[in-house]
Amino acid sequence: MNMVQAYEEQAAKLLPRSVYDYFAGGADDETTLAANRTAFAKYALRPRVLVNVSEVDSRVHLFGDDLAYPVLLAPTAFQRLAHRDGELASARAAAALHSVMVASTLSTHSVEEIAATGARLWFQLYVFRDRGITEELVRRAEAAGCRALVLTTSVPVQGNRERDAHNQFRLPAGTEMANFRGMRQATFPTTADGGSGLMAFINAEFDPTLTWEALDWLRSITSLPVLLKGIMHPGDARLAVEHGVDGVIVSNHGGRQLDAADATLNTLPDVAAAVAGRVPVLVDGGIRRGTDVVKALLLGARAVLIGRPYLWGLAVEGQAGVEQVLRTLRDETRRTLALMGAPSLAALEPDQIVVR
Ligand code: GLV
Repeated sequence: MNMVQAYEEQAAKLLPRSVYDYFAGGADDETTLAANRTAFAKYALRPRVLVNVSEVDSRVHLFGDDLAYPVLLAPTAFQRLAHRDGELASARAAAALHSVMVASTLSTHSVEEIAATGARLWFQLYVFRDRGITEELVRRAEAAGCRALVLTTSVPVQGNRERDAHNQFRLPAGTEMANFRGMRQATFPTTADGGSGLMAFINAEFDPTLTWEALDWLRSITSLPVLLKGIMHPGDARLAVEHGVDGVIVSNHGGRQLDAADATLNTLPDVAAAVAGRVPVLVDGGIRRGTDVVKALLLGARAVLIGRPYLWGLAVEGQAGVEQVLRTLRDETRRTLALMGAPSLAALEPDQIVVR
């Protein structure tokens, strides 16, 4: 059985129902969540043979860093709900396996605590109605040594996550959003009507008026590379490049925002064509195997991010579980490259993938 699936089955037994549902769930009917995964089956690989693959080099260069293989940890919120070591365990695993972790604004350890693990970090940013909060986060991420900022664009309002509403999803006592310790923003507001506490938090705090101007503002206050996460339209990819972004992440927020949004793998080739190699394009959503990683690379991604897969590893085995997920994807990616007759990522040829 796929290792990620095995971890998910164990995590489902271990975690409180409302926590499992929060991580596993998507918006509305969860069609986009499912489509992210099933899109991979539409594509088939065409291996080349009689190539010397005794050495396979899976390295990728991104924003000044050489990654040993093109898999990063996507930003995911509230990791202490999965395991008591939370983001620290994920960061230590990323460091041990030479990956990069994108630390979430909504983390349950602060960015400084996560950075103290020594992991290479990028910082995921939400823009709050109070821009001062966002500016402070940027300064703290820079001071903590984060190497890039990832501005999430897919949450102007929160998606309709019916599992969370039904479970009245809350942060358990003793868990807080550690970047806001001592501030009102450290916990969810109380909601009169029950429902999801996260929904109430996001709709109260995140800035729904956000436009491309915010990107110009962000670039004016930081010299870090800025990536836009949540690009699902080639027109926005073009605008992103025109506004000087350093990278684009094709993402539908793991199917948690707009249900019926296209699968990220389907969107990727159109975004890559619009970007035309000017900045790196990354993608997340549905990656469970090394063959998935290679399909994404062939369709225009420079690297991929995983979310739920490492949360399941984290829930079951803490740091060791996240390491196991990264190690398996690394090894599968390298084996896939060898079987594709590609001794490096650059050796993959566009005609080695077809729509079935
Ligand atoms: C937070 O960003 C979430 O998707 O729950």
